[in-house]
Parts: sequence; C-alpha cells; structure tokens
Amino acid sequence: MEEGAKNLGAILDAGAAFLERKSVDAPRLAVEMLASRLLGCKRLELPQHYARVPDEKRLAALRRGVRRVGSGEPVQYVIGGAGFMGHEFRVDPRALIPRPETECLVQAVLDCAPLWQGRPAVVDVGTGSGCIVISLALARPEGLYIGLDSSADAVALATENARALGVAERVALAQGEMCEIVDAGSLDAIVSNPPYIPSGEIERLPVCIRDHEPRQALDGGPDGLRVLSAVIQDAALALKPGGRVFLEIGETQGEAVKAALAAEGFARVEVRPDLAGRDRVAMGVLGEQTRCQGSGVRCQGEERGEETGASCP
Ligand SMILES: C[S@@+](CC[C@H](N)C(=O)[O-])C[C@H]1O[C@@H](n2cnc3c(N)ncnc32)[C@H](O)[C@@H]1O
Repeated sequence: MEEGAKNLGAILDAGAAFLERKSVDAPRLAVEMLASRLLGCKRLELPQHYARVPDEKRLAALRRGVRRVGSGEPVQYVIGGAGFMGHEFRVDPRALIPRPETECLVQAVLDCAPLWQGRPAVVDVGTGSGCIVISLALARPEGLYIGLDSSADAVALATENARALGVAERVALAQGEMCEIVDAGSLDAIVSNPPYIPSGEIERLPVCIRDHEPRQALDGGPDGLRVLSAVIQDAALALKPGGRVFLEIGETQGEAVKAALAAEGFARVEVRPDLAGRDRVAMGVLGEQTRCQGSGVRCQGEERGEETGASCP
C-alpha cells in the first residue's frame, strides 16, 4: 500500500490500486472485505466511514491483510469467513471457500417441494466447510442431515461451523464413505458439490485457488468425473426409490453427467444453468425398477416419485 493515505476512503483507494497492480481479481471488493471485517461494519456501510482516520493498530492490520491478499492468499482465508445463503461461515485452508454458484445447488434442493413433504433424510457428500448441509438444516429444520467428507480437516471445520450456527444437534458430520455410513435404500436425497476439475486443468487455475485451496477439494481426476461418477453410483444404492440426487457440475459436464445418471437408473434427469447461463446443477429421481435390477437391493412396490414440484424433476 502507498504511504501517506490518511482517511479510510484514501486508504481503500490505495489498497485497491495495490491489489490491481498485483493482478488480484476484484481488488476493490477484496480491500473492502478486509476493511469491513476490521471495522466491524457491513461492506455497504463503509462509505459512512470514509472520512474517518483509522487508528494505527487497525491500519497496520489492514496493511498486513492487503499484503497477504496481494501475495495470492484468498481474501476469505485472510478474514477467516465467507457468506453463503445469508449465513457467515468460518473458512480456512482446511476446506474449499463456499462459492456463490453453489447457492444454486442449495436453492434447487430447497425448491424441490415433494422432498419436503415429510422429514427427509439428506446426505451432503463432500461437505467441506459444511456450507450446503448447514444451510439446508437452517432453512428446513424438519430434515435429518448428514455431512460426509473424505478429509478429516474438512469435517473438523464443518463441525465448528455447525456449532457456531446452532445446528450441531441436528447435523451429523463424519469422515468416511457413504456406503460405510448409511444403509442401502435409506435416503430421500443426496446433494453434492464434489471436486470436478480435470487434473490437467489444476495448474492453470488462479494462484489463489491452485496454491491455497485443498487439492482434494478441486481435483476430479483425469476427466473431472471421478468423484461425480462415484457419488452417482453410491446414490443409486443409498437412495430410496423416488429419492433424489442434486449435483454441482462443471459447465462442460452436463451431457456426461446426464448419461451417468441415466445409466444408474435415474429418471427425469435435468441439468440447470447458473445465473451466468452455465450448466451448473444436475438432478434426477431414482426409478425403482432400474435401481433394483442394477443394484440387487430389495424391491418395494411400484415406482414412486411421480409427484412433481413446481421446480423439481
Ligand atoms: C468442491 S469441495 C465442496 C465443499 C463444500 N461442499 C462446498 O460446496 O463448498 C469438495 C469436497 O469433497 C471432498 N471429497 C473429495 N473426494 C471425496 C470423496 N471421495 N468422498 C467424500 N468427500 C470427498 C473434499 O475433501 C472437499 O471437501
């Protein structure tokens, strides 16, 4: 940051210019996030404080934060928090930073009216910070929730978030595989934002992602579909007939994921775009007959799941 900046407005201008020179994405937003955290105010309230001269302690902390962001650290890790679905989640390098596009996935689950007619059992595979399963539990207290992750670090962070957001009693969090933890044919919904970036693309990611977020949260294998395919196969076993799967996918993966869902016995398969028009969420309903043929899990009566919600397959 340039020396000589006196009031907050000038300090923010200097900080944003510094981050721009360092090629940080959205530099003004980053410096405002740092400042609002330090001043304990909302970002949109900052202009009310532009004329204020921050004390030396806060100014030094702001400078340290700007330098860390300038050297490539994600601003959310520097401030230790990220907003998601209107809630504040603790974030650190143990797990992926919650992304705004993942809110589309959560919204798709919330909008699925038939799912919420009873007390659905919902599992979030690859829970990371816990942002998906905790947001669902906050929005829909009637559900029964489990968040799973292969990373013990991520489960520890999700547990801290569940406690901080008051849902620790209602969300079970565990390290492990779905097939080890839930019974076959027992779930109403599986939601997952798995790692789906092809291994070969990881090196081309921005430094703040590539060098700071967990590789395990990003790398989806050679074609990006390794974990997605495993989740779809596990879902075909773990869901009840008529159970639903909701997946976040990469923008070029829609056709491959639709085919994988159909091959595992999912019907009414659909891919939805995010606000930028990119394929983002894949969904399907497990059809009983195909599932029984494919998995050998016991068959129960006729195919269910014919009811349709306004925005649900
Ligand atoms: C893209 S991150 C998503 C984190 C969080 N759900 C979110 O949306 O911000 C993927 C997560 O899946 C976990 N993961 C990777 N492979 C997995 C597997 N085979 N089983 C369960 N979790 C896995 C990673 O540790 C990581 O936390």
